[in-house]
Amino acid sequence: MSVRSNDFQLVGISEFVSKTQTGMIVWFTGLSGAGKTTIALKIKERLDALNLRCCLLDGDDLRRGLNSDLGYSDEDRVENMRRTAEVAALMARAGLITISSLISPFAKERRIARVVAGDLPFFEVFIDAPLALCEQRDPKGLYKRARQGSIKDFTGIGSAYEPPVSPDLRLDTGMSSADDLAAKVVELILAKQV
Ligand SMILES: Nc1ncnc2c1ncn2[C@@H]1O[C@H](COP(=O)(O)OP(=O)(O)OP(=O)(O)O)[C@@H](O)[C@H]1O
Ligand SMILES: [Mg+2]
Repeated sequence: MSVRSNDFQLVGISEFVSKTQTGMIVWFTGLSGAGKTTIALKIKERLDALNLRCCLLDGDDLRRGLNSDLGYSDEDRVENMRRTAEVAALMARAGLITISSLISPFAKERRIARVVAGDLPFFEVFIDAPLALCEQRDPKGLYKRARQGSIKDFTGIGSAYEPPVSPDLRLDTGMSSADDLAAKVVELILAKQV
């Protein structure tokens, strides 16, 4: 059967948009409670409004499914990041703006995620907030439990966090609103759209 040049209209505008946007990876790193998920969701709202399609790879979602066999030892955290980097590259190669929002505590694995991305645009974004502020926010009550000793290997307390030395973007969530910070990331994303 021959394909007419205007047949693409039948697949709908969202399919069309996904084929014309530039896929990329926005790789967040930051302590628990720093604001990764909060900012990622706000970015998605903004991208949705612009008809740009994105894929959120959130640590909590991944640990409920794909990575449910992993714990919080250094080894398991490395594997958590490795799998996420592979999925992020697949999603970005398919044209999605892919936002990974895991603690992603180790510099080496963040470097590997960039290598796995190959020639895809990759931005390391440091979601930065002091440990004391994260602990004060404690949105999931995890710091309290870690201090009580019921969670060992908690990042920033019993497990290491290596802050990025030269991230592509640093967002200080103690200083600016989540909305303003999301807007900064969207600026970065839009600058890569052709
Ligand atoms: N400027 C800000 N940016 C982001 N979050 C903020 C900001 N100011 C206050 N918050 C609050 O801080 C908390 C951040 O929680 P969030 O779940 O986003 O952290 P997270 O980095 O995803 O943590 P985790 O690694 O445990 O998933 C939320 O309660 C949010 O409302
Ligand atoms: Mg989160």
